[in-house]
Amino acid sequence: MSNETRMARGETRPAAAAARRRRVFVKTYGCQMNVYDSDRMTDALAPDGFEAVTSPDEADLVILNTCHIREKAAEKVYSELGRLRKLKDARAAEGEEMMIGVAGCVAQAEGEEIARRAPVVDLVFGPQTYHRLPELVKQAATGATVVETEFEIEDKFRHLATPSPAGIRSRGVTAFLTVQEGCDKFCTFCVVPYTRGAEVSRPVEQIVAEARRLADEGVREVTLLGQNVNGWHGEGADGRAWGLGELLFRLAEIDGLDRLRYTTSHPRDMDDALIAAHRDLPQLMPYLHLPVQSGSDRILKAMNRKHTREEYFRLVDRIRAARPDLALSCDFIVGFPGESDADFRDTLDLVERVGFASAFTFKYSPRPGTPGALLEDQVAEEVMSERLAELQVLITRQQRAFNTAMVGRRCDVLLEKRGRNPGQVTGRSPWLQPVQIEAPETLIGEIVPVEITDTGTNSLFARRIAGQDEKTARNGRMGAA
Ligand code: 5AD
Ligand code: SF4
Repeated sequence: MSNETRMARGETRPAAAAARRRRVFVKTYGCQMNVYDSDRMTDALAPDGFEAVTSPDEADLVILNTCHIREKAAEKVYSELGRLRKLKDARAAEGEEMMIGVAGCVAQAEGEEIARRAPVVDLVFGPQTYHRLPELVKQAATGATVVETEFEIEDKFRHLATPSPAGIRSRGVTAFLTVQEGCDKFCTFCVVPYTRGAEVSRPVEQIVAEARRLADEGVREVTLLGQNVNGWHGEGADGRAWGLGELLFRLAEIDGLDRLRYTTSHPRDMDDALIAAHRDLPQLMPYLHLPVQSGSDRILKAMNRKHTREEYFRLVDRIRAARPDLALSCDFIVGFPGESDADFRDTLDLVERVGFASAFTFKYSPRPGTPGALLEDQVAEEVMSERLAELQVLITRQQRAFNTAMVGRRCDVLLEKRGRNPGQVTGRSPWLQPVQIEAPETLIGEIVPVEITDTGTNSLFARRIAGQDEKTARNGRMGAA
């Protein structure tokens, strides 16, 4: 692939945002990987004097980091660009300049079309090009519209901006860490293999170095990210081929990293080592996002998921046998082309049988360029809405039951940030539930034992109790072994 920067055809505009004021605002849409990428963009710009701000009004560089996974994503970007255009015009009236960039999967999918439809945009760049952002900003500052969507993903990993100690600390005690990007699975509904490209894994040393840096700056929980995170593979220090399970065992050796999570996984890549990691690593939190998408064998086949519902049940049984307190979350799509009422009943039945702590539910949205979009037999909108509502009722019931069953139980909570009310701190349980606790802010960053006292709509309430925290308990356990 060429890494040449292409200038969009048409007029060049006056030089945008020179080096006078250097403040960047990145608006993130979509998945956690975009959150991670947005932070890497600000990290890449920091050496050029760019400071991250929290509103476009304060910024002289605004970047929209976009998502293309479902319908209307591109339209949302264009309407945001309309609003930014007004802001840019108002700035221009005051003699100030503002630069606008569109990044992420819509940028990758639409490329020059964005610059054509929205001439207010100075810079369009895809997910594999972020390490070149300082250079692209300089090019755009000369007045040309820069469109850069072609680059090898390995280059992104090779040149990924290192988070600065101050940057890490400003982001709190939990962090994302991308270990893998892209997907080779080609589910027939999904645009990811086309926007993020083929699966590429980051090398072990890079991941370990970044995890160490995070731990050194006080991060206690790391969530490994990948579109197909358990498809990660690499070579260990022992020269053996490693999968995500082996990588987790290695990361668990890092002092200070007390909690590990990973997302999003595919059922077909849950291998023995990964299941062993759930059994043997107390740092690996007992919560797993394991999308199945549908409970119907016919639809699973049409979606190219390459497993059956029975295989999913068996897998869940094996993981739960390894880690009995593990809670599951899931993604479901209703209304994939050809989905009959009986197929949908199979999905409801799968949900009943597995029991989820939470789940995301989506109406099928035909994505241009995917095989699903070409299928006849698209399901009517009203039918999709009815099915979605019915599925949501069931899932909400399971989620409530899961949360209610926590009342009276004890667990550890990682205190993450100031709570909604004064004197309150918000943390997370091992099962990812937000927990509100009366505690001083000085305890943020600590893992404290609590008893759950009540449940709200979206969070749990708890009181601190005396006892061992996760780390003390674990050290005790390791000592005994
Ligand atoms: N339509 C609806 N939902 C989709 N997802 C991915 N592509 C589509 C689509 N075309 C959902 C899947 C996936 C989640 C991230 O988004 O459930 O797991
Ligand atoms: Fe998309 Fe399927 Fe790959 Fe997940 S596994 S990113 S749903 S193609």
